[in-house]
Amino acid sequence: MKKCVLVSGGAGFIGSHVTVELIESGYDVIVADNLSNSDLTCFEGVKKITGKEDIPFYKMDFCDEKATDDLFATNKIDAVIHFAGFKAVGESVAEPLKYYRNNLESFINVIESARRHGCRNILFSSSATVYGEPEKLPVTEESPRQSATSPYGNTKQMCEDILRDSVSAYSEIRGIALRYFNPVGAHPSALIGELPRGVPNNLVPFITQTAIGIRECLSVFGNDYPTPDGSCQRDFIDIVDLAKAHVCAVRRMIEDKMKKEYEIFNIGTGTPLSVMELITGFEKANNLKLNYKFAPRRPGDVVAIWADPTLAEKELGWKAERPIEETLASAWAWE
Ligand code: WQD
Repeated sequence: MKKCVLVSGGAGFIGSHVTVELIESGYDVIVADNLSNSDLTCFEGVKKITGKEDIPFYKMDFCDEKATDDLFATNKIDAVIHFAGFKAVGESVAEPLKYYRNNLESFINVIESARRHGCRNILFSSSATVYGEPEKLPVTEESPRQSATSPYGNTKQMCEDILRDSVSAYSEIRGIALRYFNPVGAHPSALIGELPRGVPNNLVPFITQTAIGIRECLSVFGNDYPTPDGSCQRDFIDIVDLAKAHVCAVRRMIEDKMKKEYEIFNIGTGTPLSVMELITGFEKANNLKLNYKFAPRRPGDVVAIWADPTLAEKELGWKAERPIEETLASAWAWE
């Protein structure tokens, strides 16, 4: 019997890529999304890529306790991957209660209903943001978490804690948190990718929109950082590689391979790339010139962060594979 995975927020950027990889690995997938920050473009793309027209889709909000419970009551769900949440750092500073209510309530409802209806396995989409400005690089899963610089980041930390405490109290569930570094790129089919609403906050969507002429000029936030070229350093992880990590984590849970009831894995490449290196990489990969200028530092940015992905390789059998040139070409093909 095929195992069934519920993907909350499955119409979004990461959720749609994960849905593809799960289906291609032989899982049944249920997609649920309230479409508050997405539309059906990527869901339609997922159907085309996988050739599967009958993927169940629920337009629903996980803050709705009853709708969440009904979903778990009427489907036999073996694992849930929780993506549904707000993700704009700046907006979270302006509207903290909106972020706390949405991101915490929806996850609590998911855990509660999973538990009630016999879904043992819960995977949470966390973020490298929980490490703050790290003292030692690269960061391992043992590196200390630091107080979050935004309500968004805080919800990631709080959701990790909610999952950790829940699995320790309720023996019928177990959990994995994947801490993503900077997910970029798009599916090689160019049928799914990132669809930012309004002005993008993140670097790569801003780059592609500048290249295509929607934005006039890219601002590089800071060229006076204590890094080799003065711009910030990040660990840019390909979205398809990232999606595959979820399949490995789900398999580990479903096949009873976890070593503790709550596990954390860094999902990154292990290689730092600066903002300037990414820009020149994008220009080279796509044979074009980007209009950019140096601008003041963006408040809240960490100087440098990249992953030690050793644990994910050892325990999940996963590592990043797609070369950055291909990732950046896929981002451009999608745009
Ligand atoms: C990367 C670098 C910017 C835009 C954030 C969240 C994190 C995660 C991913 C998402 C920084 C610079 C950016 C621009 C620039 N969560 N930059 N010009 O801040 O590392 O991580 O997104 O849901 O939790 O914090 O990613 O892509 O915004 O920025 O120079 O127009 O690019 O200053 O150094 P970040 P980012």
